[in-house]
Amino acid sequence: MLFTSLIRALPAASFILGAQAGPVEHQKRQASVDAFVKTQAEISIKGVLANIGTDGSKAKGVPAGIVLASPSRSEPDYYYTWTRDAALTYKALIERFVEGDKSLRQKIDDYVSAQAYLQGVSNPSGGPDTGGLGEPKFNVDRTAFTGSWGRPQRDGPPLRATALTIYANWLIAHDSTAQAANTVWPVIAKDLAYTVRYWNQTGFDLWEEINGSSFFTLSATHRALVEGAALAAKLGKTCDSCAAAAPQVLCFVQSFWTGSYIDSNINVNDGRTGKDVNSILSSIHTFDPKSQCTDATFQPCSSRALANHKAVTDSFRSVYTINRGIAQGRAVAVGRYSEDVYYNGNPWYLATLAAAEQLYSALYQWNRTGSLTIDAVSLAFFKDIVPSAATGTFAKGSDTYKTITTAVRAYADDYIKVVQKYTPSNGGLAEQFDRNNGSPLSAVDLTWSYAAFLTATERRAGIVSPTWGESSNNVPPKTCTGTPACNSRITFNVRATTVFGESISVVGQLTAIGNWSPADAKALSASKYTSSDPLWSGEIDLPASTAFDYKYIRKSSTGVVTWESDPNRRFTSSSGCGSTAVVNDTWR
Ligand SMILES: *[C@@H]1O[C@H](CO)[C@@H](O)[C@H](O)[C@H]1NC(C)=O
Ligand SMILES: *[C@@H]1O[C@H](CO)[C@@H](O)[C@H](O)[C@H]1NC(C)=O
Ligand SMILES: *[C@@H]1O[C@H](CO)[C@@H](O)[C@H](O)[C@H]1NC(C)=O
Ligand SMILES: *[C@@H]1O[C@H](CO)[C@@H](O)[C@H](O)[C@H]1NC(C)=O
Repeated sequence: MLFTSLIRALPAASFILGAQAGPVEHQKRQASVDAFVKTQAEISIKGVLANIGTDGSKAKGVPAGIVLASPSRSEPDYYYTWTRDAALTYKALIERFVEGDKSLRQKIDDYVSAQAYLQGVSNPSGGPDTGGLGEPKFNVDRTAFTGSWGRPQRDGPPLRATALTIYANWLIAHDSTAQAANTVWPVIAKDLAYTVRYWNQTGFDLWEEINGSSFFTLSATHRALVEGAALAAKLGKTCDSCAAAAPQVLCFVQSFWTGSYIDSNINVNDGRTGKDVNSILSSIHTFDPKSQCTDATFQPCSSRALANHKAVTDSFRSVYTINRGIAQGRAVAVGRYSEDVYYNGNPWYLATLAAAEQLYSALYQWNRTGSLTIDAVSLAFFKDIVPSAATGTFAKGSDTYKTITTAVRAYADDYIKVVQKYTPSNGGLAEQFDRNNGSPLSAVDLTWSYAAFLTATERRAGIVSPTWGESSNNVPPKTCTGTPACNSRITFNVRATTVFGESISVVGQLTAIGNWSPADAKALSASKYTSSDPLWSGEIDLPASTAFDYKYIRKSSTGVVTWESDPNRRFTSSSGCGSTAVVNDTWR
């Protein structure tokens, strides 16, 4: 079919003029977006580097390769390093390095060392082999942050593995296989081991609020496992468990699709719609330039991801004052999710940029595959920007293809224009901008905001990251299986002198030992009890490699409970499914 109204297909053109505009005005407007992109990209790369130790101008005294979330030390205090933000930032830097900016090499090697160090730091999520890699943030001096927080967050390890895998693949292609194998792979291997072990457990989402299963975490997990298995093979290492888990993760990822959009958080009763930029950030993270518009992996040009783009961006149309009066098909300011109350709930630069980046990535995919398909799932997305759109497959070179891709590009640029409108004249990108008047809010110079500007505008210029192997890893198995429980059998021995009718039980932090509830404590047996050796004993299956607190309690014949004296006892179950360990304690 043909489109008669090309003007309507260029929504950006009417934005500044308040009326329909012809091609000349359209070009003028493009020039202004181009000019903004050019200056703001320079500011953004400087903004990223300023926040990285040791020589970043805003990261003085911060160890090499440590990324500050923001230099802001109060209201809010973001003077920490988050594994997620650092990994996404370095993914952007490593892509730039691969594309040609070789001045970044030392900074990347610094990141590898800094992360190898952090992986060894015990923290409230656990030790290096007992869950500690899921700790979301550390103090900038690389010590553990011990305050209360939403932990664990399981996206950090797979995101870091992906950033480092891109680097390792470059090293292999440039005669540095030894560095890839001996320095980078050990860090990746630990992240993959964590990911394989914990992907089927709940954790906190990227916004650190919801304890459940997050689409972003699982999408990042699938990508990391696929490319991790391939990297292992290249290096003569093995990650059989990565290859085995990846299809199962992809299987699970399908369950986030509601039929019309992605519900970003499942396995949790969070009282939200689930329309969350979480899902758009996922599509741009798992974008593979060599892939088709695969629905199963929610590629940027897939019908599912485009329908979701509309659902998520539309969810912000009515909630922000600054979006009022903006017509359907025109870009709006985008936040995290419409129910957000953090700082009153505002648009974020990185969220608005992600909406643009998905569309630029989709344009790249259509151009490369040579056609564009509109189906029932994606039709509403297309009708917003080209009202006469209808289902069908349109070959590159056809008028319809040209009309639609021109409109999509103008729509993507329109999101950049929203960012431009609310970026202060010095180009500083904070975390948020005010829902009522658009002025910058929350942390200043957010590293992730700058990194998001870089990746969005690189995609705009047709610069993409290397393939991660999506095209041969995008068919989910017919039935999904989770990971079997990995338990270790612990024998609890406690010497406790008791009188007839009394019994001894163990109770503590894990479900298997009653979650501290005496009623659900595990009773021990007195079958080996003698007057010379008052042994109470029992075998209990607990999750392997897990640190936990516990105590013994004494129950009288009438059910009166007496607790041991403080402090709590602490033990870490042995590693390996089916492993065993013995604890020998004396009642106190
Ligand atoms: C574990 O995987 C199974 C199978 O995909 C899924 O049904 C379940 O919700 C998952 N649970 C978590 C917490 O990931
Ligand atoms: C998160 O949820 C799981 C159950 O889905 C629960 O076992 C765990 O204790 C929760 N964690 C926190 C910190 O609330
Ligand atoms: C489409 O791809 C070709 C070949 O890679 C490239 O030269 C061209 O610039 C691309 N066109 C668009 C509109 O991205
Ligand atoms: C616990 O005690 C048993 C004997 O009751 C002994 O064989 C074992 O070595 C002890 N284990 C530890 C860890 O002390």
